[in-house]
Amino acid sequence: MGSVNACVDLKRDNDVAVVTMENPPVNALKHELRAGLIEALKQIKDPAIKAVVLTGAGRAFSAGADISEFGKPLQPPGLHEVIAAIEATPKPVVAAIHGTALGGGLELALACHYRVADRGARVGLPEIKLGILPGAGGTQRLPRLIGPEKALEAIASGDMIAADQARAVGILDAVPDGELVPAAVAFARNAVGKPVKHVRDRDDKIAAARANPAAYEEAAAKIVGRARGRRAQSACVESVRNAFQLPFEDGLAREQALFRELVVSDESKAQRHVFFAEREAARVPDMPASTKPRAFARAAVIGAGTMGGGIAMNFANAGIPVTIIETAADLLRSGLDRVAANYRTTISRGRLTQVEMDQRMNLISGKIGLAAVADADVVIEAVFEEMDLKKQIFGELDRQARPGTLLATNTSTLDVDAIAQATKRPQDVLGTHFFSPANVMRLLEIVRGKATSHEALATAIALGRKLGKVPVVVGNCDGFVGNRMLARRSTESERLLLEGALPQQVDAAVVEFGFPMGPFAMGDLAGLDVGWRIRRARGVRAEVADPLCEAGRFGQKTGKGYYLYQSGLRTPTPDPEVEQIIIEASRRLGIARRPIDKQEIVERMIYPMINEGARILEEGIAYRPGDIDVIWVYGYGWPAWRGGPMFHADQVGLAHVRDRLALYAQRSGDKTLEPAPLLAKLAAERKGFASFKLAAAAA
Ligand code: CAA
Repeated sequence: MGSVNACVDLKRDNDVAVVTMENPPVNALKHELRAGLIEALKQIKDPAIKAVVLTGAGRAFSAGADISEFGKPLQPPGLHEVIAAIEATPKPVVAAIHGTALGGGLELALACHYRVADRGARVGLPEIKLGILPGAGGTQRLPRLIGPEKALEAIASGDMIAADQARAVGILDAVPDGELVPAAVAFARNAVGKPVKHVRDRDDKIAAARANPAAYEEAAAKIVGRARGRRAQSACVESVRNAFQLPFEDGLAREQALFRELVVSDESKAQRHVFFAEREAARVPDMPASTKPRAFARAAVIGAGTMGGGIAMNFANAGIPVTIIETAADLLRSGLDRVAANYRTTISRGRLTQVEMDQRMNLISGKIGLAAVADADVVIEAVFEEMDLKKQIFGELDRQARPGTLLATNTSTLDVDAIAQATKRPQDVLGTHFFSPANVMRLLEIVRGKATSHEALATAIALGRKLGKVPVVVGNCDGFVGNRMLARRSTESERLLLEGALPQQVDAAVVEFGFPMGPFAMGDLAGLDVGWRIRRARGVRAEVADPLCEAGRFGQKTGKGYYLYQSGLRTPTPDPEVEQIIIEASRRLGIARRPIDKQEIVERMIYPMINEGARILEEGIAYRPGDIDVIWVYGYGWPAWRGGPMFHADQVGLAHVRDRLALYAQRSGDKTLEPAPLLAKLAAERKGFASFKLAAAAA
């Protein structure tokens, strides 16, 4: 007894063996761990052992298959072998779950004869988020345990289920209080001498669907409809259906075949790329590993507008007390009212209780005047995008805030270095670009100024994580990463209108590509007046957007923009008046309108952004192509199953992207469309952006 191998430990508690998985940080089921489990199962054949507890060391039971092994040749034993061996053990095997049991981790637990978990544990089959389906029996065992409809819901959403809920539906047998492993040992001992229970042999929960699959098919149709042709969802539906239509072994064989098909798909590769890129994005290459974030027990947000209020909600949601600071009582009152109204909407949707809302509102206080920042560890300024105002505020913050306070400006365009210069502590200043609505959107661009210290950066990253965001560190430039690329798309979308397309055609092509919304519907949602004001300040003109604004068409808020909106509704309806404005603009500029096909629209909506992404990499504004992908997936609705713009470019092939850009540059005379040097170089070398990281690391 003792160490079975580097990843598995086996100890005895009298007649119960405790097998512990030890592959930090989350016990991913890599080859050595699987081999260790097989070996441990051999060792428990000792007749003195009457029952077994399977548990995990560290912060999780197991996060499932090792995703980094996907796409590589399998080193036996496979997870199936381990699972079959556990299930076939004649002694009761009890899974003791803490932290998370996800994917293959839960599938391992489903093969155990019983499952107990502590109250904080969560279980789930998140494979769909990686573009695959549970491939280690999950689609066959879970329906037998909780019924096909509930199983499909869990598998098609990939959402985690909290222990109490998992106990209520029947995934868990017990949620004991107190220490988990001793409780699981007691549970196992109690099961000795009773016949072991195999989930695979149960048919009580699938009998109803077998007799009448109507309810299942109804739920399945909704999921397939929402999936818009993506294969992983329909594979989940098919495989769960097999659980009640086919014998267990046949269902299992089909599940494996589907898994093998999906794991090599472009969609799954893209989603795995996003998974790892998201985790890498917060790593700052030159930051020493020893850099420690500062503590942040109290926060202050300056400005009670929509952004400020949304940011304050993030703090309250994370349990951090926050003061909203305004210049006048009425502004403060309306800001706090807006926050309360937002929470009430969440309650009405059943996603928050009144008690939780009260707790959160209690964490938010309001004050007049910047002196209120004195007790904050982190200050986020979220006033209008006006440089002079921001500079003035930062000068005052310098006088009022304690030394070491993180001073962040929430800006989407302004120069963070210029703002930092208004203080005598530029090392503590950085940008935090929250996305609207700030309490919902997960992306957080952290803008690193010239003088920003590693410690300040580490604090902002830790804070972002605490607030449930996906933090990505970017450099300081106009528009940073996301909006700088978006600007290229905006120029091109307006050009498409002038050349012959209509907003509904462009939006439809972009939605078909996988975005939730096209650029014009999005413009209407965000409000067209913001861009109009910025353009006027900069002395630039947009040939379609400006006449729309001049006609009072600011988007949804005025009931009309690129589209018409019936009062109170958000559904865009094409408007002949807009078509006239567009045709008139083409005529004014002497452009002969022509039909533009879908492929051209999609290329022109995407390739100019990729080109700008290449420049962003060349300039070091983003450290890695994956960072740009994460920004687009989490901040702008880029479909995760297409991996982000830079990943997509690699899949399409950089030579093709280069050639099309060269063509569009030549046709339009727009030099910004000429292939960026990095893009041209990689294309000539027949490489992809994925190689960029390697090149940078080697330099
Ligand atoms: N495989 C490989 N590495 C994994 C992993 C997995 N399944 N799960 C997590 N990791 C790695 C992360 O990449 C990260 O590595 P770095 O520190 O080097 O960046 C590290 O473990 C810690 O992960 P997080 O930073 O995400 O830690 P967290 O505490 O915030 O979250 C978690 C923990 C909820 C388990 C989260 O990591 C997660 O959701 N993991 C993926 C779970 C999943 O999708 N499982 C299904 C796998 S597919 C499968 O199992 C197929 C099958 O049917 C057999």
